[in-house]
Amino acid sequence: MPRDEHLEGIYYIQGRDFVDAGVVSSEIKKRLKDKGITEDVIRKVAVITFEAEVNIISYADQGTIQLFIEPDAITVEATDIGPGIDDIELALQEGYSTADDSIREMGFGAGMGLANIKKFSDVFELTSEPGNGTCLKSVVRLDSE
Ligand SMILES: Nc1ncnc2c1ncn2[C@@H]1O[C@H](COP(=O)(O)OP(=O)(O)OP(=O)(O)O)[C@@H](O)[C@H]1O
Ligand SMILES: [Mg+2]
Repeated sequence: MPRDEHLEGIYYIQGRDFVDAGVVSSEIKKRLKDKGITEDVIRKVAVITFEAEVNIISYADQGTIQLFIEPDAITVEATDIGPGIDDIELALQEGYSTADDSIREMGFGAGMGLANIKKFSDVFELTSEPGNGTCLKSVVRLDSE
């Protein structure tokens, strides 16, 4: 876990708040640009934070995304209070989704979010306590291509 001195921001996300979907990931993207992070890394972190943000909005009650900038890596930690994930391996499978109609109407629910987060991460950790919530950690190295 990166140390607090590398904490760049904590962003709060409210469950079911689809109107604000993308606000946090846009803010993070802007922050990374201001910091002079390369386009390639920003693009990956933007996908990771957007998918994590929409998952919290879609499935959890509330959550936070913490952004850490270290000399050699960006770390994103998305933590939520919610139902959690019973079967992590299943949730990671491309195309697996429990999205209901309200989520699909917003254009989400293809079952690709977690798979894409994993694909763009140099380190990926997903843990969950069913009934309590979910914790996602993703690291993108600054020298990754
Ligand atoms: N934070 C979370 N809390 C509870 N369940 C989650 C959470 N994130 C993902 N899930 C579960 O894992 C499944 C797969 O998530 P994933 O992001 O890969 O796809 P999706 O959200 O269903 O669709 P997409 O991301 O392509 O719009 C979800 O349908 C949901 O059942
Ligand atoms: Mg998703």
